[in-house]
Amino acid sequence: MNDWSRAASTHPVDDVPSPFATATGNRGLQIEEKLIFEQDSPGHCGVDLPEPAPFRSRLGGLDRQGPIGLPGLSEPQVVRHFTRLSQKNYAIDTGLYPLGSCTMKHNPRLNEKLARLPGLADIHPLQPVSTVPGALELIDTLAHWLKTLTGMPAIALSPAAGAHGELCGMMSIRAALEARDDRRSRVLVPESAHGTNPATAAACGYTVDQIPADATGRVDRAALEAMLGTDVAALMLTNPNTCGLFESEIVEIAAAVHAAGAFFYCDGANFNAIVGRVRPADLGIDCMHLNLHKTFSTPHGGGGPGSGPVALREGLAPYAPLPWIVHGPDGLRLLEHKSGPAEHSLGRLKGFHGQMGMFVRALAYMMSHGSDGLRQVAEDAVLNANYLRARLENEFSPSFPGSCMHEVLFDDRFLKDTGVTTLDFAKALLEEGYHPMTMYFPLIVHGAMLVEPTETESKASLDEFIEVLKALAAAARSGEGSRFRAAPVSTPRRRLDETSAARKPVLRWRPESVDRDSAG
Ligand SMILES: Cc1ncc(COP(=O)(O)O)c(C=O)c1O
Repeated sequence: MNDWSRAASTHPVDDVPSPFATATGNRGLQIEEKLIFEQDSPGHCGVDLPEPAPFRSRLGGLDRQGPIGLPGLSEPQVVRHFTRLSQKNYAIDTGLYPLGSCTMKHNPRLNEKLARLPGLADIHPLQPVSTVPGALELIDTLAHWLKTLTGMPAIALSPAAGAHGELCGMMSIRAALEARDDRRSRVLVPESAHGTNPATAAACGYTVDQIPADATGRVDRAALEAMLGTDVAALMLTNPNTCGLFESEIVEIAAAVHAAGAFFYCDGANFNAIVGRVRPADLGIDCMHLNLHKTFSTPHGGGGPGSGPVALREGLAPYAPLPWIVHGPDGLRLLEHKSGPAEHSLGRLKGFHGQMGMFVRALAYMMSHGSDGLRQVAEDAVLNANYLRARLENEFSPSFPGSCMHEVLFDDRFLKDTGVTTLDFAKALLEEGYHPMTMYFPLIVHGAMLVEPTETESKASLDEFIEVLKALAAAARSGEGSRFRAAPVSTPRRRLDETSAARKPVLRWRPESVDRDSAG
């Protein structure tokens, strides 16, 4: 057997109730995988290059003196290493991925195919603009769809993620306030908000005040109105909110925010639930980011970084970051500098135009669904979440009464007196072959479990998942707590020390010899 055919474990799997211990530490086809640096076999190399001809160094004595420190591996070793790592990954292509708030939806293969067309994939961002009119048209068409779906007059496409979109939106709001010489210091954020909302407001120099939720899981409107004042720059509100509920008083809330002279920022991460059904501009929203990797099915990582375009109302549009695509008499033009109509722009927030690969995928998704298909996406996402809710409401504890939007929130009351926590429950789900739901978020309910099935799950796959959840709830209630506390037992790794992982993360591999030396 070649030395690279199986990486034998140096870390035996602890305490596994398995009939016998294997010689390798591998179990079945689950192969223990060492780090690539631990597989270093000096002298091995994937390529044979001839010695370079002598040349005169122009590095002025700054040449590297020692080896670069890369592991020596043959090509088959590298291929097997990364293939085995990829097999340890749980992905939306593996099974149901109920991670609430993250909208882990199927990435249609048509999008992937189009994004790989050489005419799109091989464009260089520094190519002369005159050679890429098709790319500009594609970006402009995507912006047109997003404007139509949000009802907003302007779209900034360059932000690279939802959080980056929030930054773009809040910077635009700050710029608009400064332009009217209106110094305001506070931003209001509901207590159920995603952590990026207060972080963004703080990064823009505002103090953050938390608005409490009411008994239905929505913003307490009376409390919000009492907190509004001439020092409030903006309200940042997520709709549907992070409890999976539509903010039913949103129109009244928008009116109150505007009456106080503030702006209304909407976190549109959950747009998947309302796309094609509700135009955010009609709700009084001034500014909202959209996560292309949630609503418009572009991959979360793997296929490249995310994309968080921002829709802006008239009063905020002049501050949109560069570059701008504008319609001129000779077709589309690219404005890359703060001059002319873009005089008040924030400038660049990101290199080049944004994530072109994501734009192609999102537009492919929109055009292949059409406007009626997008509406159906929202309807099916909401239907699937409510199906789960209805079938689980007797065994689980839904946090709030009534139907939900695209995700359903449970808390841990159904585990009362079982000795099983939300974390234990999630670990037991891993044992059943499912990625867990989002846990302990939002923070406003105890032991939160936020489940988002998305629209592409069939009734059959939802039914299977429901049976697993019901069986686990029954096991917890019938006193099998120790099974939950031991879980997971058959995953490549068992429980981590989560506190040490958070407080003392080991982010860089170092050879044992270095650790030994520094300990000595
Ligand atoms: C409600 C909400 N807001 C903001 C974000 C941040 O988006 P991103 O991860 O794209 O930065 C998320 C991400 O999960 C979210 O769920």
